[in-house]
Amino acid sequence: MDLEHLQTEIETDLNSVVSLAALEEVRIKYLGRKGLVAELTSSIPQVAPETRGIFGQKVNALKNKIFSLIGEKEKFLQAQENIEKQNDLDIGLPGIALELGGIHPITQTINEICRIFQNMGFSVVEGPEVETEYNNFTGLNIPLEHPSRDAFDTFYLKKYEKLLLRSHTSPVQVRTMQAHTPPLAIIVPGRVYRPDAVDASHLFMFHQIEGFLVGKNIKFSDLKGSLEIFAKNIFGPKIKMRFRPHFFPFTEPSVEVDISCIICQGQGCSVCGRKGWLEILGAGLIHPNVFKHVGYPSGKYSGFAFGMGIERIAMLKYGINDIRLFFENDLRFLKQF
Ligand code: PHE
Repeated sequence: MDLEHLQTEIETDLNSVVSLAALEEVRIKYLGRKGLVAELTSSIPQVAPETRGIFGQKVNALKNKIFSLIGEKEKFLQAQENIEKQNDLDIGLPGIALELGGIHPITQTINEICRIFQNMGFSVVEGPEVETEYNNFTGLNIPLEHPSRDAFDTFYLKKYEKLLLRSHTSPVQVRTMQAHTPPLAIIVPGRVYRPDAVDASHLFMFHQIEGFLVGKNIKFSDLKGSLEIFAKNIFGPKIKMRFRPHFFPFTEPSVEVDISCIICQGQGCSVCGRKGWLEILGAGLIHPNVFKHVGYPSGKYSGFAFGMGIERIAMLKYGINDIRLFFENDLRFLKQF
């Protein structure tokens, strides 16, 4: 086969190619497994030994040449195709609508609660989720090696003995009081962690809102009044409240606060376990030992504190019966808020 002739032949072939499909046919004709170049290559052993080397080099050079010719043509055709596609563009077609995201129901609930307290003059403060043992326990009058610690079962960070994932938002009381002198009216939303087995009402991570107010002559009635305003704002004006004596190491006296069941209005139903009441938060007057730990002069200040679980409030408010729904990111659930 005449190599020079072959090169002219491919140039003629390429000149008549006008589509990528036709180019592929040309490629197969020359470079395919049974193509002309393959044929040439397999004929090399038959060439007389004196000219075989030169012939082999020429075949190789021709092969490279064909490669680059086809490559160039391909680029050219591709560019042409792109231009044609642009000409097909119909700018009159309606676009694809962008869907707006929404605010997560937990964030919505946090915002709503914060807003209610901000309207009463509270400021929003946040604290770290990795806390010291001191701020989570000792500073809050929860002695180490004391049974009351069991109520706050905790994830410790193994490598750093004295660090843990906070089991409540109350350590922010300690942080804030260490850094500032009263009057203080603070609200603290945030994540907390407890090693609980996951079920419809427990997760190992959930959200709380802590509130505390410190000043001179702060009384239990101030706590009651503030919580009353909160409950009516979030659950509606008809809601009733009930304060039950309780124990927390960091408040004295301590209470648990119930609201009249929002499903049955206190008649008794399955949601409230026939009691007519739903527990929503823990609270009390700040224990003198907490003031002592943050270095406030003894007897000078008094205050109240409360803490509530956000998921629980949101579940009651929206009638949600499984806490896990908040974190499964199922759009069918999330889109309802
Ligand atoms: N920290 C308590 C808890 O997690 C709630 C609480 C806060 C109670 C402040 C009283 C005062 O259960």
